[in-house]
Amino acid sequence: MKKILVLVSFLCCLTMTAMGETPEKLGATPAMGWNSWNKFNCQINQQLIHEIIDAMVSTGLKDAGYQYVNLDDAWHGPRDENGFIQPDAKRFSSGIKALSDYAHSKGLKFGIYTCAGSKTCANYPGSLGHEYQDALQYARWGVDYIKEDWCNTENINAKGAYRVMADAIQQTGRPMYFSLCEWGTNKPWLWAGKFAQSWRTTGDIQNNFKSVLSILDQQQGLRKYAGPGHWNDPDMLEVGNGMPVNEDRAHFSMWCMLAAPLILGNDIRHMSKETAGILMNKDVIAVDQDKLGVEGLRYATDNDLEFWFKPLEGGDWAFCILNRGTAPAKYVLNWQKFNFTDDLSKRATNFDQMVYSIRNLWTKKNEGTSKRTKKVIIPGHDVVMYRLTPKK
Ligand code: GLA
Repeated sequence: MKKILVLVSFLCCLTMTAMGETPEKLGATPAMGWNSWNKFNCQINQQLIHEIIDAMVSTGLKDAGYQYVNLDDAWHGPRDENGFIQPDAKRFSSGIKALSDYAHSKGLKFGIYTCAGSKTCANYPGSLGHEYQDALQYARWGVDYIKEDWCNTENINAKGAYRVMADAIQQTGRPMYFSLCEWGTNKPWLWAGKFAQSWRTTGDIQNNFKSVLSILDQQQGLRKYAGPGHWNDPDMLEVGNGMPVNEDRAHFSMWCMLAAPLILGNDIRHMSKETAGILMNKDVIAVDQDKLGVEGLRYATDNDLEFWFKPLEGGDWAFCILNRGTAPAKYVLNWQKFNFTDDLSKRATNFDQMVYSIRNLWTKKNEGTSKRTKKVIIPGHDVVMYRLTPKK
């Protein structure tokens, strides 16, 4: 029987390869999904998660590419007599498997949270010393994504601790996206790319624009560590949690310029039209999800303005002007000022030798070409974002 199974799986692999299909690489583009923490903190239960799964589909978020539904801290109950972690029996009375099955039945994926320390940040049982057992339990539950936090780790070695969990995940045989949440303390970008799909680069995001800008500034110098299968994670989104629409738009645009994981942190059951419009702007999402997987760079600044470029597939560029100030800024774009070669991707803008057509990704209007200078107004705490495509 065993021999037949081995033969069947071997033949399957052969057929898949012959058809040009390979199993989807985890994190080939930055992960897209939802997580409970930013909006709900510890107030989570199975009904909420059910409703979120339903909303992922009914709002169109799933169709826009968001696939993971991730529980964060505080889903835990105690471990059972054999040391296996169990969910809180009251708030998750049907168990975690029922939730992941429900997510899967809707074509979504399911994620869970743990912590490398003895306890999670909210004081629930952590994975320290239970890594293999926890990974096995998650695999049995059909989990697809594991976020591992860094509270209560005392003096343990970060690289070692996360390596143990990575190995535990691998031993289960179930592909599970591994998201490190070590806040950048031990420079995970230097070592986590070998075994994790993403790593947090900073402390927690707050629901205000100052925090968004501060996190953005802390990404300086990190772009060379990111790429398909291993991403810098500037933390989950606060879009829809109360910032004004211009700030939400700027936050979302910059996360896409950074090729950041797009993990929603709002109550998607009750979204305003504006929030839905930001989160489901397919052109802006396409910048984040671009197959080239090169993080954008801040090429220049001018007072409150920042000029960001991100090389995209097929010779295109994403170009974003961020206004950090509160007053609207007028600017005359002279493309010849932006002739440069990006050392990382080896791509050159070549504005002196070629002409690009310009598409505004927020207004969806085509705005001529790079042949001429261009007057733009960038509202306060907002962006103007373009896709530049070489003209044939
Ligand atoms: C840390 C993490 C957050 C969240 C909380 C949960 O602060 O950085 O993203 O997971 O813990 O307690």
